[in-house]
Amino acid sequence: MIIDKQSLINADTNSPSFTEDEFAIDWSMTRNERYCFIQLLQKIKPKIAIEIGTFNGGSLQVISKYAEKVYAIDTDASVKERLGSKFKNVEFLIGDSKTIAPQLIQTLQENNDPLEFVLIDGDHSTNGVYQDIKNILNYKPKTSLHIILHDSFNPTCRKGMKLYDYNKNENVHYVELDFITGIFSPEGLKRQMWGGFAMVLMLAEKRSTPLKINESQKKLHNLIYLQSFHLVNNLFWFLKPLFNFLKK
Ligand SMILES: C[S@@+](CC[C@H](N)C(=O)[O-])C[C@H]1O[C@@H](n2cnc3c(N)ncnc32)[C@H](O)[C@@H]1O
Repeated sequence: MIIDKQSLINADTNSPSFTEDEFAIDWSMTRNERYCFIQLLQKIKPKIAIEIGTFNGGSLQVISKYAEKVYAIDTDASVKERLGSKFKNVEFLIGDSKTIAPQLIQTLQENNDPLEFVLIDGDHSTNGVYQDIKNILNYKPKTSLHIILHDSFNPTCRKGMKLYDYNKNENVHYVELDFITGIFSPEGLKRQMWGGFAMVLMLAEKRSTPLKINESQKKLHNLIYLQSFHLVNNLFWFLKPLFNFLKK
């Protein structure tokens, strides 16, 4: 193992990265998320996977390694140009996931293709997150389907994750908004809350009992929220047009 000594003095949550150097493309996830992500994909080895939000291909490099076939959705057309030749088992779908995901889910369903893993990490607005969840959870699984929702620690994304009525979907068997907790005030994002994985597990069989929506680190989330930029932003939302005007 070759260790980049310079990175050892860097105190951010992504480096040093010598434990996952095998996945060398830069990715937008913290160290604990990376460990979890690699481990999950190694275990699941999905036949079919979907990624919503690819960016530099950090998370895609892991999904591509362990899945048989991946559909990568991103609005940024350069994703396909930059990464197209690197991943042989990935089909890049360029456009808004709100349009692409429902069509893809319908095609997979009609073809009896077993979707077994999804990462939702695209549009980070409340409505964007909610729409992605709604569209993906329309799928009726053939086996088990693990869905990872990134940035569940971010209050805007978390709100979108809580909008969906999981209890109405009989194929959902497990929901945990704090499967992996997030981080506070990462470099360049002062007092902001980011990261965290929510996990939704869907099974082919129907659930017969009511579902509990787990938020195992709700107290941590709420405590940090009180000190966060998000609280101030949400309290003084009505001043935003004035700030934007003054910035001009
Ligand atoms: C945070 S990055 C993804 C990071 C990546 N999953 C990783 O961990 O390395 C978010 C990506 O989502 C894409 N995106 C934003 N809104 C989208 C939408 N409505 N549909 C599809 N992709 C979207 C952006 O272009 C960006 O590349």
